[in-house]
Amino acid sequence: MKILMVCLGNICRSPLAEGVMRHLVEEQGLDWEIASAGTGDWHINEPADKRGIAIAKKYGYDISKQRARHFNPDHFEAFDKILVMDQQNEKDVLKQADHLHHREKVMLFLPDNLEVTDPYFDDKLFEPVFLQIEERCRQIIEEIKKESI
Ligand code: 4NP
Repeated sequence: MKILMVCLGNICRSPLAEGVMRHLVEEQGLDWEIASAGTGDWHINEPADKRGIAIAKKYGYDISKQRARHFNPDHFEAFDKILVMDQQNEKDVLKQADHLHHREKVMLFLPDNLEVTDPYFDDKLFEPVFLQIEERCRQIIEEIKKESI
């Protein structure tokens, strides 16, 4: 299974999702590939936001070595699932998809049409966003293992 986590800047939400998901799948001995990318190109090659690195560290995850990447249409072939943090990310990714089988790989990270709030402009949001991402990563692993998403 190859999963790409996508947000806007690839420095706050999707790097948290990447780091947490990679840690959890390794812990379970699953040979999955996990990566992340941003629909925007402002932060390419930068580390994750230091507030995100800090909150991840608090809960036992090291995301400090990850570097931001820009989403590109090659990712549709390279990954099995492209999990987007909000509906704008979904639109920005889907408009680069030429094939139905690529569009079908794209889904919101959260269930029930919920979005992961962008914490970039509010320090207080990093902890609740982290906890929401961690809980959902655990669920996604179980859902994929049961092949229900
Ligand atoms: P992210 O948050 O999409 O969760 O990485 C953002 C980070 C930076 C910017 C926007 C969103 N920015 O505009 O630089």
